[in-house]
Amino acid sequence: MTQSNSNKSFKSIFGITIMAAVLGLAACTPTHPDVKARQDIMKNYGDAAKIMGGMVKEPDTFDADVFKEQAAFLATESKNPWSHFEDTEAVGNAKPEVWSNNANFLAESENFQKVTAELNTVAQTATTVEDIKPAFGAVGKSCKSCHDDFQVKKDD
Ligand code: HEC
Repeated sequence: MTQSNSNKSFKSIFGITIMAAVLGLAACTPTHPDVKARQDIMKNYGDAAKIMGGMVKEPDTFDADVFKEQAAFLATESKNPWSHFEDTEAVGNAKPEVWSNNANFLAESENFQKVTAELNTVAQTATTVEDIKPAFGAVGKSCKSCHDDFQVKKDD
C-alpha cells in the first residue's frame, strides 16, 4: 500500500517534469534573436508613442517632464533596431522588401532618426502641446511610412 502510493506520486511528479520540459521547448521555439531584439525595441517605441500621443490627444494631461523623458528615450533608441535587420534569415514580421529594397529601408530608418532628434530638441523647451505637435506628427508619419512598406500586418 505504502509503496504503491509513493510510486504513484513519483509518477505524477515525473509527469509534471515532462510537461514542463515540453512547454519549455514550445516557449523556446525559434524566435531569431535579432527578431526578438528589434521587436522588443519596437514595443518600447510603441509605449513611448502611446504616452506622448495620449498627451497630444488630451492637452490637459500634458506633462512637460514626462514628455521630455519619452522624446529623449525615442531619440536615443532610434539608432538601435537597424543592425538587427541585417540577417536575411531573421524574417519575423519584416517584409522581403527590407532586403530587396534595402536602400529605401535605410532611408526610412535615417529619416526616423532625424525626426526623433528634432522632436527631442523641441521637447526640451516645450511648455504646451502646441509646441510639440508638429514634431510629434512627423514622428508618427515616419513610423507609419516605414510600416506601410516594410512591416507585415496581421491582415496582410
Ligand atoms: C524604418 C522602419 C521602421 C520605423 C521608422 C518604425 N518601425 Fe516599427 N517596425 C518595423 C518593422 C520592419 C517591424 C516588424 C519587425 C519584425 O517583426 O521583425 C516593426 C514592428 C513594430 C511593432 C511590433 C513589434 C512586435 O512586438 O512584433 C511595433 C509596436 C512598432 N513597430 C512600433 C513602431 C513605432 C511606434 C514607431 C515610431 C515611433 C516605429 N515602429 C518605427 C519598421 C519600422
